[in-house]
Amino acid sequence: MKTSKNKRYNLDTPLIQLTEHDVWTARDACAGTCIFGTTGSGKTTGSFNNIASSFLINNFGGLWLCSKEDDIDNIIKLAAKTGRLQDLMIINPNNPLRFNFLNYQYNQQKMRHGSGAGLSENIVNLLTTMTDVGKGDKKGSGSENYWQDTLHQLLINSVDLVIYGGKNGLNLLELYKAVISAPTSPAQTADTKWQNSSLCWQLLSQGMDKKKSAEEAHDFDITATYWLNEFPNLDEKTRSIIVSSFTSMANSFLRGKLHTLFCTETNVIPEMCWLGQKILVVDLSVKEYQKLGVLANVLVKYCFQKSAEIRSLDENSTVTFLICDESHLTANSYDRFYQSTARSKNLATLYASQNISGYYATLGSKDETDSLLGSLKTKIHHSNDDKITAEWFADTVGKNWDQRMGISGSAMGQGSTGFHSHQDLNWSVLPRELMLLPSGGPEHDYMVGSYITVAGRKWLAPEYQKKTYIKRIWNQEFGQ
Ligand SMILES: Nc1ncnc2c1ncn2[C@@H]1O[C@H](COP(=O)(O)OP(=O)(O)O)[C@@H](O)[C@H]1O
Ligand SMILES: [Mg+2]
Repeated sequence: MKTSKNKRYNLDTPLIQLTEHDVWTARDACAGTCIFGTTGSGKTTGSFNNIASSFLINNFGGLWLCSKEDDIDNIIKLAAKTGRLQDLMIINPNNPLRFNFLNYQYNQQKMRHGSGAGLSENIVNLLTTMTDVGKGDKKGSGSENYWQDTLHQLLINSVDLVIYGGKNGLNLLELYKAVISAPTSPAQTADTKWQNSSLCWQLLSQGMDKKKSAEEAHDFDITATYWLNEFPNLDEKTRSIIVSSFTSMANSFLRGKLHTLFCTETNVIPEMCWLGQKILVVDLSVKEYQKLGVLANVLVKYCFQKSAEIRSLDENSTVTFLICDESHLTANSYDRFYQSTARSKNLATLYASQNISGYYATLGSKDETDSLLGSLKTKIHHSNDDKITAEWFADTVGKNWDQRMGISGSAMGQGSTGFHSHQDLNWSVLPRELMLLPSGGPEHDYMVGSYITVAGRKWLAPEYQKKTYIKRIWNQEFGQ
């Protein structure tokens, strides 16, 4: 069922009954969810599958990223159970679905701004995000910022060069060839032998000849100045580092499966997730394809996020999801920006991960992790023995002042005996409580325990009315 122009999706739609008195609604889903639990704690077969099923039952479309080889089996099983098999669109090497991400971004840009060049920020940010994959905590330091800026400059000028000078829109092979054929010294720019063999030069000449508006002529002049003056005068080491940062990422897409899937034609686009309520699945698991899997997930996620956050709710306002198990593997710096607009665009994020340290490792900083996780308002904790995550959970639940009585004086061997009271600030729920939660399987009667906090939520169930959390048991479906 689609929502019509005049009828907005009802965000009070109940998705999960959390307690007898408390309902988790589509509105809660759009405020974002993160699930934590050690391996085998029951996060996938507990809260994650239950929430994902509620999305499917309610006919939401969205993007689902795979991190393990068997994720796809789980997705197909849940889609079959909820009658959504016909909505699955699975991108993998055995299927005919293709998504030429650069062409897609380029066409989006042209559609929005009428012109392809000079407004390449989205494309450049996507390429930057992809070149950052695997860098983790090497990002963000002072000297790294310098590399980032220099790389950003290389990318923006490469993209504009191909858009102005090329004849086929934007494609990765041309970007790659333009960069590796750029002049490496000021003298080379006047060398006819170099000019005759360089795609960079050819694109500059073609761009020069193209008819341009005054604004485009200005932008092209800056691009030409970069390639003919700035780039050849860069320090040799700087130049080779930024060029290889880009080419090593691009190389992953210039051959093999990633090339076929993401650099040829386009017959699937993120818009299908909200306009057609389709379930787009990227079945290139990180476990199987490793860095290539991360790159594929990151690029589709970024394109999805950039389009979803400017979706028009007048066309279709049904909630659209972004689901990712083992989500720390594909986390990146754009995620928190996406999350800041997700709520107002009916976009429901569902992430599951083992612990916070995984996010630190991928995002490269505690601040970035705190900011992302802070923007996911529902937090579900399953059994966990990770100290940092357990203490973070206890901090989220909060602390209480506890009154304690003490003995002072002669009983302690000094003067007259007396009693005094003092107050201690203690965690309301101790971190170790997480270890006591049932983790499913026959030994726990297929029950998975969890603590749940929802920022700003007043619980109605009598036993939780003054508490910041609830406890909830999830049934593993194969045990029912
Ligand atoms: N298909 C299944 N049949 C029976 N038990 C299962 C099945 N899948 C998982 N379990 C049990 O549930 C526990 C939790 O599994 P899972 O949800 O995959 O954990 P997590 O996602 O936290 O790693 C497992 O340790 C296992 O005991
Ligand atoms: Mg799991």
